[in-house]
Amino acid sequence: MKTDLKAAPKVPARKKDAAAIPAAWDYAAAPESKDIVKIADHYGLFIGGKFVEPLSKQRYTTIDPATEEPLSEIAQAGKADVAKAVRSARDAYTSRWSKLRPSERAKYLYRIARILQERSREFAVLESRNGGKPIRESRDVDLPLAAAHFFYYAGWADKLEYAFPNRTPKPIGVAGQIIPWNFPLLMLAWKIAPALAAGNTVVLKPAETTPLTALLFCDVLRQAELPPGVVNIITGDGRTGAELVSSPDVNKIAFTGSTEVGKAIQRAVAGTGKRLTLELGGKAANIVFDDAPLDQAVEGIVNGIYFNQGHVCCAGSRLFVQESIYDAIISKLKRRMRTLRVGDPLDKNTDVGAINSKAQLEKIAGLVQSGIDEGAEIYQPPCKLPERGYWFVPTVFTNVAQSYRIAQEEIFGPVLSVLTFRTPDEAVEKANNTPYGLSAGVWTEKGSRILSMAQRLKAGVVWANTYNRFDPASPFGGYKESGFGREGGLHGLEPYLAFDEG
Ligand code: NAI
Ligand code: MG
Repeated sequence: MKTDLKAAPKVPARKKDAAAIPAAWDYAAAPESKDIVKIADHYGLFIGGKFVEPLSKQRYTTIDPATEEPLSEIAQAGKADVAKAVRSARDAYTSRWSKLRPSERAKYLYRIARILQERSREFAVLESRNGGKPIRESRDVDLPLAAAHFFYYAGWADKLEYAFPNRTPKPIGVAGQIIPWNFPLLMLAWKIAPALAAGNTVVLKPAETTPLTALLFCDVLRQAELPPGVVNIITGDGRTGAELVSSPDVNKIAFTGSTEVGKAIQRAVAGTGKRLTLELGGKAANIVFDDAPLDQAVEGIVNGIYFNQGHVCCAGSRLFVQESIYDAIISKLKRRMRTLRVGDPLDKNTDVGAINSKAQLEKIAGLVQSGIDEGAEIYQPPCKLPERGYWFVPTVFTNVAQSYRIAQEEIFGPVLSVLTFRTPDEAVEKANNTPYGLSAGVWTEKGSRILSMAQRLKAGVVWANTYNRFDPASPFGGYKESGFGREGGLHGLEPYLAFDEG
């Protein structure tokens, strides 16, 4: 067939990127029903397989950060409560769990995984109500991954001698685990699944603002008929966490949270012989080269920083753009940001939900103000925020110098700082110019460049042409002030095992 080039239809000029997004694209609200999950007026502490009243007699109120509505009264475990939970874990360890055949341990883990899948909608709604994250994320990310972690480690429980050949792996005893509020149930799964698979028992403390899915998980343990005391869940704030860390009969501490508290825990544990893993903050570089597919990269940038309101330790919070594509990326990014839907976490259309707490909102607002004061240029898309609750508009800063606080400190909110580079060497140098080293992203068409960047970036995880991807088989953890020890994969079992070497 002959083609007449001259007759080819003229491609219409592209719309200016600054064009407003048509107002006709308004969505009708599609809220998920709250009725699927029942929240009790108050909860006790889950010790020895049942809920008990806190000896401290203290409680505090947990709320829905999207409405500030009180949800339940939560026990604040004191010293005697922590001691009781640790005793219960020790008894369960010596009398039963460490003696159980590994294939039997695996059965419990499989059961827990299956029940989580069956009850996933209930958990997703509760996670979104107590934490503020969009239902789309709790339903499609947190819940499937939490179940996947239990499935994955169930598979290893009776194969430890193949996982660590000639090293005779043995459990270490009672693990004290302290988790944050950004992925409450998922972090619980990351902690509990490998600990149980390795034959240990657990005392876990969820974060003070998000205890509800951990408390609902106690019902899953009951359904799975897990022997009493193998998992104990104690609620409370940092004081409860500190008591658990200093408890003399705990063999291992696993912590995810702020670098500041991580350092305090490391000091408290030093010289006690307790094992320790720390998963702390981050300030990841997401690096876009000029040969990257730009639209795909913009999706990755948005996912990297606005996923879970930016309450993500591995969030791509520093964007490095190669100079030649800077204008194109920024205008595409701003255009994409204008389509983000901020609001009711239970609405299935919502992209960005509520900030987890008032304290976190104040921290974000303070750092954003510092960016403005130091001279960066701020962009926020037009956005109507709900009247009650804690909200922050997705924000991008351009004209950022490396020394600015917004380029150095973890903001843990929906705030992106954009910097530029000319050469791969410059990108590496700038990306590594941070006290953290948890994750990084690289966007380029060149496979060789991906490999060389991945080798030179000081980060525990490097994603290429994607971002925020997780798999239970893949180890996760940091360098430098992002902590030490790995979670996930075979590496994630090691911190829960002792070895008879030789
Ligand atoms: P945090 O580190 O104080 O809280 C995390 C967990 O540690 C909670 O369960 C808390 O009760 C517990 N905790 C607090 N003080 C403790 C202590 N002295 N001993 C033992 N446990 C203790 O984090 P926070 O205050 O909620 O958030 C502050 C900042 O930390 C955030 O803005 C963010 O930058 C960072 N962060 C990082 C996380 C990550 O996943 N890497 C998770 C949460 C916060
Ligand atoms: Mg704190």
